[in-house]
Parts: sequence; structure tokens; C-alpha cells
Amino acid sequence: MGKRVLSTRGTLPGAGLDRLAGYVDLVRGPTDEKPTPEQLHALATGAAGILCLGNDVVDAALLDAAGPQLQVVSLASAGFDAVDQTAAAERGVVVTHTPGVLAETTADLAWSLILMARRRLGAARDRLHAGTWATFRMDDHLGLDVHGATLGLVGYGQIGRAVARRATGFGVRVLRHDPYSAPADGLAEPVGFESLLAQSDIVSLHVPLTDTTRHLIGAKELRAMKPTATLVNTSRGGVVDEAALLTALRDGTLHSAGLDVFAQEPRGEDVADLIAASRLVALPHVGSATEATRAAMVDLAVANLLAVLAGEPARTPLPG
Ligand code: DGY
Repeated sequence: MGKRVLSTRGTLPGAGLDRLAGYVDLVRGPTDEKPTPEQLHALATGAAGILCLGNDVVDAALLDAAGPQLQVVSLASAGFDAVDQTAAAERGVVVTHTPGVLAETTADLAWSLILMARRRLGAARDRLHAGTWATFRMDDHLGLDVHGATLGLVGYGQIGRAVARRATGFGVRVLRHDPYSAPADGLAEPVGFESLLAQSDIVSLHVPLTDTTRHLIGAKELRAMKPTATLVNTSRGGVVDEAALLTALRDGTLHSAGLDVFAQEPRGEDVADLIAASRLVALPHVGSATEATRAAMVDLAVANLLAVLAGEPARTPLPG
């Protein structure tokens, strides 16, 4: 009998979980939905490894519920903001995640939001679906051009760079701001944060959610952006102050926004107003949602988990 490993979900895309079952004593979550903390803690008891998603809370309570034999928590997620890294380090538990494999797919989604928000395509589609499109009018459904715009990337890791590569075809000039200044690549011009906000027609966020980046875009930053600008967020909802964004959209001090992520997910009534704002395009956290990419995330999470259980280095441990 192999070591006990918990997958917090009953099934996952691709063949990774079935492969894992060939090596370990695999316990599967009761459903494909997020388990409650009580369910999670009960299922984790006695596990040497936990394979979970980015929205499972990995805190001291979970680690202690699992027990001292726990060696690894492997996230099928690039984001790791729900992990208490200090608690894991104190207990000698390795935590891994899945950056890289979702960068291209998430960049595709960022561009989808850029195009949808800037050209107001969500509102146009809604009108067609509502049956209220009466006739072609020259002044109907007018958005702003994407080609020729200046795109500011806040965060220039693998996803930010993938977004920058796609800009060439759109004739878009790219600025970037990243505190961990990446080497020059000829694709994006490094600038200060304030300069990026002031110059960009489109601001796209690609930073992890940390104590430093929480509400990185608030009322002050929104005021610093052009009134004709579009804000796109495919990173984590908490990076944007949603109340300030709603005010900016309502007041017309920001042209539009495209959000794939929210401070609370699934969205609650508290962001219903935000979602109803006519210049907002909102999606339910689908940045990495293609069959191939979700399967690749699970494959990498399984490889990380098996490596640690075998006493080998993880392929993609958490940074730092
Ligand atoms: C990620 O990998 O961080 C995506 O947001 C999906 O969780």
C-alpha cells in the first residue's frame, strides 16, 4: 500500500489523477466542488500529500488536521494566496504550484477581455440576445480602438510576457512595470508605476495577490489612469479595490473594465452592482480554462507531489 494522498476533488481534467492512483493510496474528495473546511480537515487526516486547487485554504488548521506525516501540498494552480507559507515552513511541509503551463492560455483570456471591454462587446452581445437590436446605426455600440493603443502590464512574469508577445500583431505599444525588473526583451518598455498608469490606454494586471499587491489599484490609481482607459484583471480579485472600480465606472472616470477574478469567489451579492455596470465585462475565473491547460496543470501538480514523496526536489516549488 502506497502513502495516503488526498485529492480535494473527486475528479480533475486529464489523466493525472488516475496516474497518481497507480503510485499512492489515493483518497478522492466526495465531489468536484470545493470541500468545506470540515470536510477537508477530515479527509486530510493521515495524508502524506494533498493535491488541491488554488481556492482550498491551506492553513495551520489543515496542516495540523493532516498530521505530522504530511510532506507535501501540491496546488494545481499558479496562484498561492490561500496558502499560509509560514505555517507550512514551520511544519516542514513543501508547497508546490503550477506556474508556466497556464501562461499562454491566460494571456489569450487577457486579450479576450481587452477586446471585449474596449469594444463593449458584452453589451452588444446582450442586446442581440435580448432581441432589442432594431437596426444598424452609425452611432450604436461604439467602443474604442485596440490597435494603436498603449498597453501597460503591471507584473511581467510568464503571463505578462505572453500578453506582451501577442501585442505585436495588434500594433500595440507595450509598457511594463514589475518590482522584480525582468531583463530587457524588446517587447515592453520598463516604466515606473505612475508613468504606466498615466500613459496606458489599457492596464492589465499580472501580479500575485500578496500583502503588497492587495488593492494595488484603488481610487487613487484609477484617478491616475486616463478617463478613456480600460482596466483588465486576470490575476486575483483582491488586487483591485472593487468599490473604487465601480465608482470610477459609474462616474465615467474610467472607460471600461474586464474582470475574470473577484475578491470573493464565487461572486456574492456584494459585487452584483459591479457586474451590472454596463462598461464591465465579467467572467467567472476562466483564465486557464482550456482542456489542455487544465490537464497540464494537474499533470504538473501530480509530478510535483510524487517528486516530493520520493524525496526528490519539486519541479515548481513556491518561490522564495
Ligand atoms: C491559477 O492557477 O492561479 C488560476 O487562477 C486558477 O486557479
